[in-house]
Amino acid sequence: MGHGLGNASSLFFSSVELFLDVKAIEGYTNDDIAHSSGEINGLMALGERMAENWSSKNPYMTQVTENYILNGEGSRKETRHVVFDLGDSGLDYKVGDALGVLAENPPHIVDEIIEIQQWDADMTVTTHNGDRSLYEALKKDFEVHMANKKFVHSLAEKVVSTGMKISMNIVSRSRNGENWETSEDAAGPLTLKPSMPSDDPSAQVEAILADAKAIEDYLWTRDYVDIMREFDVKYTPEEFMELVDRLKPRLYSIASSHDAHPGFVELTVGIVRFEYNNRPRGGLCTLFMADEIDTTGNPIGVFMSPTRSFILPDDKDIDIIMVGPGTGIAPFRAFMEQRVVDGGAGKNWLFFGDQSEKTEYYYKDQIESWIDEGHLYRFTTAWSRDQEEKIYVQHRLKEHGAEIWEWFERGAYFYICGDKTYMAKDVHRALISIAMDHGGMSEADATHFIEKTMMKEEKRYLRDVY
Ligand SMILES: Cc1cc2nc3c(=O)[nH]c(=O)nc-3n(C[C@H](O)[C@H](O)[C@H](O)COP(=O)(O)OP(=O)(O)OC[C@H]3O[C@@H](n4cnc5c(N)ncnc54)[C@H](O)[C@@H]3O)c2cc1C
Ligand SMILES: NC(=O)c1ccc[n+]([C@@H]2O[C@H](COP(=O)([O-])OP(=O)(O)OC[C@H]3O[C@@H](n4cnc5c(N)ncnc54)[C@H](OP(=O)(O)O)[C@@H]3O)[C@@H](O)[C@H]2O)c1
Repeated sequence: MGHGLGNASSLFFSSVELFLDVKAIEGYTNDDIAHSSGEINGLMALGERMAENWSSKNPYMTQVTENYILNGEGSRKETRHVVFDLGDSGLDYKVGDALGVLAENPPHIVDEIIEIQQWDADMTVTTHNGDRSLYEALKKDFEVHMANKKFVHSLAEKVVSTGMKISMNIVSRSRNGENWETSEDAAGPLTLKPSMPSDDPSAQVEAILADAKAIEDYLWTRDYVDIMREFDVKYTPEEFMELVDRLKPRLYSIASSHDAHPGFVELTVGIVRFEYNNRPRGGLCTLFMADEIDTTGNPIGVFMSPTRSFILPDDKDIDIIMVGPGTGIAPFRAFMEQRVVDGGAGKNWLFFGDQSEKTEYYYKDQIESWIDEGHLYRFTTAWSRDQEEKIYVQHRLKEHGAEIWEWFERGAYFYICGDKTYMAKDVHRALISIAMDHGGMSEADATHFIEKTMMKEEKRYLRDVY
């Protein structure tokens, strides 16, 4: 195969964002808010339920038929397999597509906000989704599980100088890989230091609003409930709804082939949970899927987000390499199911990893049966915490560099899914070093081969990273 090498000049970090294949919710803006009202389906006659009707603004209200934790006992993580019934929606999908999900806020947070503000939960309010009770509006139309910057800015007008003593104490945080704990002599980042310049509330607000980083740091450990309590501020429901963000859908890489599971769509979901100020909190959509929808109860709004690029090769005899640590395994479970149904001669090599083989070997039985039946030619694992030193997928890729290079030379496709911030960049670097070590290329040529030839021209280096 010709590699079409030229003089490479681009460096990965300055150029990679241009190549990212992240699905967007087409045409979605902050003003395009989906209705999560259970009435939508009921209003439609059966014949009208055409697949193309369903969108982020008009989601199909469905139910979950399976929802279970994939982790073994003792795991630090909560990763779930969630199955949705596509019923009579007419919705279809191909492997590589994503599912859009519309969630609701945790009821305890809605209740707390209403209680602190002494609002009437049953009063009728008008939102972008029409007239509804205040409770329903806060539960379904806005993101009230996490505070936004606009709200913090509003404190400048709400908080007046009273001379009141306010205690502002950040004890620890972990963000962007940076850990910081307070202690007598801890030298934390300036904006995180436990003492603020003044005990006066308006001076406190001024200090928070002083720069963007201070606002971010402040918001990391506080939600609306914390802030309202901290500054004892009161808003009308209308004022509050003007400030908070409208509720947005979340996307999930589909973990099933529709041919293998007709009428269903399946996801692999990493649940986001954390706790600050002794209050359990977490991600909007993942908490909703983990805590509020079960297999008999609440409906949930979904729609399809098709991909044009993260697709299997048309030629079923082409080999593929899939790298999907953590929830990144989702689309590759779907790819494998599809390759089994399609029955081509192309070989499949899956790199998977997570913290521990004992607790994070997701889809173990299915993977083992693919291996036993000859569908999965190679399965390479990287269990990061099963030994002293961290072992990640990029280490395994390098160990198998010679063979990977042979596969590339034979025209294999390379897929990656999962963490965009660290993993995908490290894997990308590993590919460049494989091209240097086993393809005998200079760094510039190797970079050009991976970023231009494979990714852009031949479109056989494909990414679904988030
Ligand atoms: C194309 C695509 C495919 C995806 N596929 C998958 C998939 O297959 N599986 C999957 O699990 N996810 C997937 N995601 C991610 C998914 O869309 C959501 O972003 C994710 O589930 C979190 O959503 P949430 O509503 O639960 O959290 P949100 O309410 O959006 O909150 C997440 C935010 O919480 C904050 N946060 C996180 N931890 C802490 C903490 N300890 N303290 C304070 N704040 C914190 C961070 O700001 C973080 O961005 C995908 C994303 C995209 C774009
Ligand atoms: N928006 C959200 O809030 C949200 C929700 C769910 C998932 N996510 C993100 O989606 C991604 C997937 O999460 P996940 O729980 O499925 O898996 P993950 O956190 O990406 O972890 C999967 C494996 O990757 C390892 N890893 C850590 N850093 C790595 C690196 N630089 N290179 C290669 N491997 C690395 C982890 O090891 P160690 O942990 O031992 O270091 C673990 O073994 C993460 O970025 C996660 O933060 C975000």
